[in-house]
Amino acid sequence: MSDKTKILIQLDPDPQASVFDRVVAVDAGAQQVFAYSGVTLEQVQGLVHGAMFTRGPADLAHTAIFIGGSDVAVGEAILKKVVAAFFGPLRVSVMLDANGANTTAAAAVLAARKHLELSKTTAAVLAGTGPVGQRAARLLAREGARVRLCSRTLDRATQATTSVNGAVGGSRVTPHATGDEAALRKAVEGVELVIAAGAAGVVLLPAVVRQSIKSLKVAIDLNAVPPAGIEGVGVMDKAKEQSGVTVYGAIGVGGSKMKIHKAAIASLFEANDRVLDADAIYDLGKAM
Ligand SMILES: NC(=O)c1ccc[n+]([C@@H]2O[C@H](COP(=O)([O-])OP(=O)(O)OC[C@H]3O[C@@H](n4cnc5c(N)ncnc54)[C@H](OP(=O)(O)O)[C@@H]3O)[C@@H](O)[C@H]2O)c1
Repeated sequence: MSDKTKILIQLDPDPQASVFDRVVAVDAGAQQVFAYSGVTLEQVQGLVHGAMFTRGPADLAHTAIFIGGSDVAVGEAILKKVVAAFFGPLRVSVMLDANGANTTAAAAVLAARKHLELSKTTAAVLAGTGPVGQRAARLLAREGARVRLCSRTLDRATQATTSVNGAVGGSRVTPHATGDEAALRKAVEGVELVIAAGAAGVVLLPAVVRQSIKSLKVAIDLNAVPPAGIEGVGVMDKAKEQSGVTVYGAIGVGGSKMKIHKAAIASLFEANDRVLDADAIYDLGKAM
């Protein structure tokens, strides 16, 4: 086993590379973190070549790349460029967790999985059009759940549903509009699981509607900024029973998100060919 230093190269398109991602990297065992901020797509190949040409193939497992930043679409584009820069055995492991979207969605679905048999579950993902919601819908679909992907507009719900169904063969995801209370009631009627993945500080499920879902068993709110996305769910709630429903708030899910994030970083240094995107990060969390 080589005794080379474990180096994590942090590629962040934001003007200031994330301190959060850097601290987690160190806590997860990276011995050096090279943080690059303001990274553009044009710069990616050069940065990746710097990572893959400096150590021999036997030592490349000690170098890895983490893609962060606040814009998930840009992060995805960077990941494509990173993978395209590799050739043959000259590659390093890479993880994408822009805006925490992959680790958050994985933690939410794994929390639901503790209480429900997902293949027999009908779930509503409220605000399922954002990066976290789309990933949660995709992971639920992979587990065989029936998923109602919700948005204020049917158009956006349909677009996101097409993308999720395209990514998961045989998935049972359907688009639902939740623009007014009547539509919302219809979208959540008969579901056992609700995951609220809305923008910060937006109430997606008022208490009066939530109480009308007699079938509801688990409710997970990912919004940490008051007011809560699911009215009545506390941000710290973690598997808390509320009138027969198990509820999680954003920080309640956050502990597991952090564990998954750290385990994923650690696993980058076990081989030089890992590509950790939503599915791989979820599988890793599942195996923990
Ligand atoms: N706990 C953690 O560690 C962690 C990590 C990452 C993210 N998060 C949280 O997870 C949630 C989802 O993140 P994200 O990045 O996917 O969110 P996002 O892209 O900001 O928003 C998700 C969706 O929310 C809906 N939305 C936006 N403004 C709205 C409004 N005024 N009223 C109703 N709906 C609105 C939009 O859906 P439509 O336009 O289609 O309706 C949008 O696609 C956020 O609350 C974020 O803070 C938590």
